[in-house]
Amino acid sequence: MQKIAVLGYGVVGSGTVEVFYRNKENLEKKAGEPLDIKYILDLRDFPDSPYADKFVKDFDIILNDPEVTVVTEVIGGIKPSYDFVKSSLMAGKSVVTSNKELVAKKGAELLSIAKEKNVNFFFEASVGGGIPIIKPIHACLEANEIKEIAGILNGTTNFILTKMFRDGMGFDEALAIAQQLGYAERNPAADVEGVDACRKICILASLSFGRHVYPENVHTEGITKITPEDVEYVDSHNAKIKLIGCARREENNEISIGVFPAVIKDESQLSGVSDVFNAILVRGDATGDVVFYGKGAGKLPTASAVVSDIISAVKHTKTSRSLDWQDSEQSFIRPFERFVCGNYIRLLANNPDETKSAVKTLFGDVEYLTSKSRKDNELAFVTGEMTEGEALDAMNRLSEGAEILGRLRVLDY
Ligand code: HSE
Repeated sequence: MQKIAVLGYGVVGSGTVEVFYRNKENLEKKAGEPLDIKYILDLRDFPDSPYADKFVKDFDIILNDPEVTVVTEVIGGIKPSYDFVKSSLMAGKSVVTSNKELVAKKGAELLSIAKEKNVNFFFEASVGGGIPIIKPIHACLEANEIKEIAGILNGTTNFILTKMFRDGMGFDEALAIAQQLGYAERNPAADVEGVDACRKICILASLSFGRHVYPENVHTEGITKITPEDVEYVDSHNAKIKLIGCARREENNEISIGVFPAVIKDESQLSGVSDVFNAILVRGDATGDVVFYGKGAGKLPTASAVVSDIISAVKHTKTSRSLDWQDSEQSFIRPFERFVCGNYIRLLANNPDETKSAVKTLFGDVEYLTSKSRKDNELAFVTGEMTEGEALDAMNRLSEGAEILGRLRVLDY
């Protein structure tokens, strides 16, 4: 019999307990032995819960109980989660977490402690909610050298962008609906500023490229500056705007990585991913493109990933060697000014003919876009690929005779 502790009885914690007891018999068959949740840690009281006798407020009860072999951390944030997770691993208990901030900031250290103590540190639920992505990358796609990963990793922003495209809403109106429906938090900054997507691409990049990518080293932009005018032009180009987290392997052992709203052509498998759904494209050298799609958040989808990790932890009591990466220096992340992509640019020209000639000189051949609501002297165009530094320099020169109103990167997946 293995005993499990669940730290945190919020949305994911209560979902984890619900899925565990709903499928307990089946899970025990898969684990090959009886299982039970012995403790649930939460500072609040739940006297009417069917699990009322399992609640404790003192983490040390769990830490000092040798019967507990798997600790499930679903509190979120760094404090006190980091201390709880670290001390559980140090005490020789496996840990399962859904906490993307913790994994993105402390993953290398926690994986190294798990290895030293010969226990597991699993975090399938930290990226893509119920979508299997961590295990597929480190186990099922193990034969590949992963060249690139690109994902729609945040459901809230994807919902907002879908509303802006489908219903012609502005950003503020779409955000208000996302908040009414409970997708966006009252303080939506982590979602709309790209912070949540950044943590997730850091985890995927660390796993795929073997070295820890820290969020503070990743160029991150959100979706707050996207206007209905940009949406209309991009739509006329048979494309969508998606908040993309992407990381690609470059020469000299470097990687390029970033999070930003990008123009994605409608032929792409990522373009049709709508509402709160997530999708992650993994480009392997043997498989080519593999796309994982599904619900990236929510109580039961996320609990599904957590409970599956609990079963893996009880079945494999020793460290999973394939789920590992090294700590790293920033130096293997290529400076963002060398990131290569196309550009969508919208501007107001003092003299459109002169500006078009300057565009040709600075950007080469471009494709001009149309829009029903186009204003006089407004131009919008898409460039070929260039580095970020070249694009910024060209925009700077262009702004001598024009006011740049909008700029998005264009990605080809
Ligand atoms: N706020 C996140 C999202 C929740 O909208 O995708 C899941 O990490």
